[in-house]
Amino acid sequence: MSAAVSAPAVAQMDVEDQIETRQSAFTFAAWNMGKIKAQAVDGAVAYNEQQMLAAANAIASVANSGLGSLFGPGTALDENDNTRLKPEFFDKPDRAREVAINFAQEATKLQEIAANGAEKAAVAAQFSEVGKTCKACHDDFRAE
Ligand code: HEC
Repeated sequence: MSAAVSAPAVAQMDVEDQIETRQSAFTFAAWNMGKIKAQAVDGAVAYNEQQMLAAANAIASVANSGLGSLFGPGTALDENDNTRLKPEFFDKPDRAREVAINFAQEATKLQEIAANGAEKAAVAAQFSEVGKTCKACHDDFRAE
């Protein structure tokens, strides 16, 4: 599994591109989390299995895309003013790897549940588990 530490699949991007790309990836994941929240949790929008699967696929794709290579050296907020990545990320590689792996595992589980045409409640429950993995990483490594 490609998590926080993985062999680069392409030539390393420059620092600006890494920051912009990871911010876009998280924004895109959040947009898809919002769809699941609206339909499976809040019920603000009619529940649609296909849309839930599409959203879960998108989140799992982000989580399993090898995001670690967008967290290269020199991309934390001590050296850049356009990022919220805490420098602690580089001091705690084991914790960084752990939160990234948890995100990938829970997002993959959400994808599997949605693919099996699960009930709304099951999608909502696993949505909550994915949300915890977002929060765990933000609590440790994202500045306010
Ligand atoms: C491995 C750690 C990690 C995980 C897991 C994670 N995030 Fe983040 N997230 C960050 C960091 C670090 C930033 C700040 C990135 C930056 O500014 O360079 C961030 C930024 C964001 C942003 C702001 C993007 C922007 O444009 O500045 C949103 C929205 C977000 N995350 C949502 C989520 C959601 C939703 C999930 C789960 C589905 C998630 N994140 C999972 C670490 C993580």
